[in-house]
Amino acid sequence: MRKKITIAIDGHSSTGKSTVAKQIAKELGYIYVDSGAMYRAVTLYAMRNLFVSKSNFNKEAIIRHLPFIKVEIKFNKELGYGEVYLDDENVEKEIRYLEVSQQVSKVAAIPEVRKVLVEIQQEMGKNKGVVMDGRDIGTVVFPDADLKIFMTASTERRAKRRYKELKERGDEITYEEVLKNVKERDYLDSTREVSPLIQAEDAVEFDNSLLDLDEQFEKVLKLAKDKIEAVG
Ligand code: DC
Repeated sequence: MRKKITIAIDGHSSTGKSTVAKQIAKELGYIYVDSGAMYRAVTLYAMRNLFVSKSNFNKEAIIRHLPFIKVEIKFNKELGYGEVYLDDENVEKEIRYLEVSQQVSKVAAIPEVRKVLVEIQQEMGKNKGVVMDGRDIGTVVFPDADLKIFMTASTERRAKRRYKELKERGDEITYEEVLKNVKERDYLDSTREVSPLIQAEDAVEFDNSLLDLDEQFEKVLKLAKDKIEAVG
């Protein structure tokens, strides 16, 4: 049997990381982990407990509650990938709301939050055979990942994709609001002190601005298969 590898996919928000990561994991029979969803789940917890709102950001309360926040990824057989649970409740839908997106970068900048989630992520990937997407997967979570991909696409293209996604889900939202959020998150994610979004030196840069989903999938799959071949 072929050796399993670890695939890290990083990049700005809405670059299509999770779409391709899911496809690749399914094709290879690997586990897919959406690390951003875990940061979103902690953010949702903080919002529900009123530690975080438009006018309030109680970092200390979040840190104090960390030991009691249960974030898990449970495999959904029908979908073929894992979904995020917060205290045993499936929160996949809620964590994608714009209200959560507007707060998550601040929560993800808290070092204590990162420490707890990175440990869970490393545990999930310890047996390899994992495709994980996020911001610091190739730099911090799995610095020894066999294949690192850094996805990019223009800001406008990413905002359009996100807008379409949210509209299709029935959200009342304008394109301008989505564009503003994408830009804000880019800025916060790239400039925070702890584990900012940066391209790992050994990552393959992958601009998908002009690729459709099939082309993107084929290209990333080829990179993965070549790597699997190379490690034997
Ligand atoms: O991938 P996403 O947009 O769902 O991620 C949500 C937020 O979480 C994003 O603004 C940055 C943060 N994040 C992070 O800091 N580190 C990760 N590994 C994944 C996400």
